[in-house]
Amino acid sequence: MSTLIPPPLSLYIHLPWCVRKCPYCDFNSHAGKGALPFDAYIDALIADLDQDLPLVWGRVVSSVFFGGGTPSLFPPEAIARILDAASARLRFAPNAEITLETNPGTAEHGRFDGYLKAGVNRLSFGIQSFNDQALHKLGRIHDSAQAESAVKLAQDAGFDNINLDLMYALPGQDLAAAEHDLQRAFALDPTHISHYQLTLEPNTIFFAKPPKGIPDEDAAWDIQEHCQMMLADAGYAQYEVSAYARAGRQCAHNLNYWRFGDYLGIGAGAHGKISSGAEQHVLRRWKHKHPQTFMDTAGTPASIGGDDIIDASRLPFEYMLNLLRLHEGFSERDFSSRTGLEPAAIAAALGQASQRVWLTGKDGFWQPTELGRRFTNDVVELFLP
Ligand SMILES: C[S@@+](CC[C@H](N)C(=O)[O-])C[C@H]1O[C@@H](n2cnc3c(N)ncnc32)[C@H](O)[C@@H]1O
Ligand code: SF4
Repeated sequence: MSTLIPPPLSLYIHLPWCVRKCPYCDFNSHAGKGALPFDAYIDALIADLDQDLPLVWGRVVSSVFFGGGTPSLFPPEAIARILDAASARLRFAPNAEITLETNPGTAEHGRFDGYLKAGVNRLSFGIQSFNDQALHKLGRIHDSAQAESAVKLAQDAGFDNINLDLMYALPGQDLAAAEHDLQRAFALDPTHISHYQLTLEPNTIFFAKPPKGIPDEDAAWDIQEHCQMMLADAGYAQYEVSAYARAGRQCAHNLNYWRFGDYLGIGAGAHGKISSGAEQHVLRRWKHKHPQTFMDTAGTPASIGGDDIIDASRLPFEYMLNLLRLHEGFSERDFSSRTGLEPAAIAAALGQASQRVWLTGKDGFWQPTELGRRFTNDVVELFLP
């Protein structure tokens, strides 16, 4: 029997409000009405963290991620209060990566100074596109000039680790337009670019009423291939399905998710995954989704939407669902220490994947091939119980 050894630990903090809900977005985000209850929400976050602490006693936090929603709606003092409370309760690694998601429509110079002082050392901007017509169709609250000036303000304030989120296969977008978006992004010299294909998610306005002119699968594939080449030429190496980074600037927080690392998730609707060496199991825990219900119940068992110990038979699938997104691959030894299972549990599926030239393996180390990367979902399915 292999031994499950708890992997690195991250902390995810969900801040659920936005200025307005974008029609394509299925995140747990809510248009804020009137003055937002920052203080009450932070009290709830702290109570939530206190409740989860026994799951991670003594462990070191290697990264923190403020996600949303629009975390940049929270003023720097609020972010500082959250980070102070978290670092008083948990041991942070000396160089812990601390990211804050930012909507360019909420930027001000003083805010960026304040976030830096609060301890944030990485910003992730939701840019989506630099085409004003596209931004309008996406229901964004900013135009391209505001997006550029927000990134420059952050750089002036001293942020040197910046991600830009872009989406492609937008309504009416052709290859030249997607290319133009990347060129404007490169001009801002970010350290990281996330390049997502626009997807029509159930329970969104776009799903109910798709906008006209969304590129079909072939056109979207052409855009993706072309953009991958441009990103590589500009020095952004792809390391995950949608993630590209300059050398040494991969997102440590997301990498930990994709490597089947552990994370505490606090806040409305936040999900956590925690391995227990003592219990030899992996627990998933999630919190109530609605901000008000979360605030009303935080710190009590009623705030927990569910606790689920992952069945051993599902662990290979859950592990591969994450690891196979990454270009770097995985070792059988790592599989064993993160799941507590013997490599024999995946030997048959690895054999099939290798036969189909989806994965190549040597000395217990496996990597997806180009073909495997194109059919990630099919590869992952081989590991279903
Ligand atoms: C939580 S949001 C980022 C921060 C902030 N809320 C914003 O939008 O500016 C995370 C990112 O997911 C991407 N995203 C959201 N919905 C998507 C969809 N339906 N298809 C593809 N990408 C999507 C967007 O690029 C977005 O910036
Ligand atoms: S994309 Fe970002 S700003 Fe728009 S609704 Fe979703 S979380 Fe809010």
